[in-house]
Amino acid sequence: MPAAIISGKDIARTIRDELNARVADLAKEGLVPGLATVLVGEDPASRLYVGMKQRAAAEAGIHSRAENLPATTGQAELLALIGELNADPAIHGILVQLPLPSHIDDSQVLLAIDPDKDVDGFHPVNVGRLATGDPDVLAPCTPRGVIEMLLRSGADPSSKHVVVVGRSNIVGKPMALLLLRKAAGGNATVTVAHSRTADLGAVTRTADILIVAVGWPGTVTRDMVKPGVTVIDVGTNRVDDPDHPRGYRVVGDVDFEGVSEVAGAITPVPGGVGPMTIAMLLANTVEAAVRLRRAGR
Ligand code: GUN
Repeated sequence: MPAAIISGKDIARTIRDELNARVADLAKEGLVPGLATVLVGEDPASRLYVGMKQRAAAEAGIHSRAENLPATTGQAELLALIGELNADPAIHGILVQLPLPSHIDDSQVLLAIDPDKDVDGFHPVNVGRLATGDPDVLAPCTPRGVIEMLLRSGADPSSKHVVVVGRSNIVGKPMALLLLRKAAGGNATVTVAHSRTADLGAVTRTADILIVAVGWPGTVTRDMVKPGVTVIDVGTNRVDDPDHPRGYRVVGDVDFEGVSEVAGAITPVPGGVGPMTIAMLLANTVEAAVRLRRAGR
């Protein structure tokens, strides 16, 4: 039997409907969550992502401010803008789209964001809060979205063996930390594999839940999974396709055709993890707003 499809698009829609209602309730109490996006340069993919985040915020009733800066923007100018956003009481979430141009030091920029407004969860304070199991942490959006997809599709990771393929700061590492937490969506036994793992298939075949985030199409093939496994494909890769009107197709890191014949459940690409990342950004913005109000800020 082919795998069940876990539709991130549908789950994200449900979450966004829940958030719309929450934002409407907060507005009655006089609190309008605010999100600032900061984009430096003209990278088309980054522009597209930031535009989607802005539109999603507006649809949810979240106040949004878009700072689109030229590629020549200096680091001092960018840090000054972040200082201004940190101090702005109408802004509760700040997102600086990565990657930044090479003349800017990403780590200095992320460090300048107020950790309580860091809706990406990339500030070292939030990385530490996640690692120490703080339940109130603002956790990175993509791994948080994966946990929501698992819970809402009936694949609770508790007591399961979860293999995460990928060790990036944006997905792989925070993914493993969320799965380890003593909390809903956690309590898993976690293995992290990566590009230097010997015999990747031997590791991935032991997974009850397999999460793949390496950015390389075809990383996981049919022979590398156990029958019945739940597969979450975080990859978003463009591959040339002369038959497609755009000249390319978007595929994940998993060979969907082959693996879906063996897996119990699988996420598609597109329509899988991608929409969840945006839904979780909105959720983090609303949570940040509520916590800042509670703290009297
Ligand atoms: N670039 C790729 N993914 C992300 C993300 O989740 N947040 C930010 N800020 N930049 C990214």
